[in-house]
Amino acid sequence: MPNPSRNRLPPGTVSEIAQNIRLCRVDIEALVKNWFGDSGIEGLRRPARDLSSIAPLPDWLAPGELETVQGFKALKRQVEWLAGRLAVKTLVTACLDAGLAPTNVTVACEPQGAPYLPLFPGHCLSITHAGRWAAAAVSLDPALAIGIDIERLSIPGTRAFLDLVFSAREQAALDRSDPLSLPRAWTLKEAYLKYIRRGFHRSLRQVELIDGNLLEHGRPAPVRWTVTPLAPGYLLALVFGARPSPSAEPD
Ligand SMILES: CC(C)(COP(=O)(O)OP(=O)(O)OC[C@H]1O[C@@H](n2cnc3c(N)ncnc32)[C@H](O)[C@@H]1OP(=O)(O)O)[C@@H](O)C(=O)NCCC(=O)NCCS
Repeated sequence: MPNPSRNRLPPGTVSEIAQNIRLCRVDIEALVKNWFGDSGIEGLRRPARDLSSIAPLPDWLAPGELETVQGFKALKRQVEWLAGRLAVKTLVTACLDAGLAPTNVTVACEPQGAPYLPLFPGHCLSITHAGRWAAAAVSLDPALAIGIDIERLSIPGTRAFLDLVFSAREQAALDRSDPLSLPRAWTLKEAYLKYIRRGFHRSLRQVELIDGNLLEHGRPAPVRWTVTPLAPGYLLALVFGARPSPSAEPD
């Protein structure tokens, strides 16, 4: 029997970013203009609002997801979260099961925040959002774990930020004459923290990028990575490799 919600798939563009890894990116600016009229992402700096009347959402959201969105305090968080979930739903229906309705695709979270697909626990999932963009990536190979991160090119290079994020030897290795050096290192570090599924629960300075090598606790991390332009002004980092075993190292 035809499923009417199949006619109203969530927005998003799916691409292959590495072998067996698919990405869906969602343009938050376009979503916001579509939903709220003229206000772009600059108009998101407001308290949360009631999104239950946004027409297509009931076609996309699973039971409970609208309640989650309504529970956030800021409109920006509501829209970012939704955009990430729409990216996931697009990816799953495009790459894992074309017969699933978006309303049946859900995301659950591990205790430290890492997202996973309850319907496809063998396929690693990663989600990110920054500024105008949200994205989700899924691994089609159950042996392959992934982490992705989007970052704006214009990130603060203040002393406090550098000291919080980078070890002394990383800072020494940063090429400050290259404007991409800092955002590349930062987005890659965040993608790696998602790959190991710890996020900020792992000390940022325990993960280092030195001369193009990712190190964790000073030892080379057995991963591959890419950092590529996602859109003007934004970088996308992808870290991928074998599923990391639970680390005995302290955070
Ligand atoms: C994940 C994290 C490293 C990246 O944060 P960020 O660059 O600001 O945000 P991004 O948009 O790129 O990524 C956010 C997504 O990462 C995912 N994520 C959260 N924790 C994660 C983890 N431990 N491992 C992998 N992915 C994680 C989530 O899906 C989240 O999106 P969602 O909340 O909409 O589902 C960081 O937010 C984090 O560690 N969060 C969990 C712990 C926390 O909240 N600590 C705060 C106090 S230290």
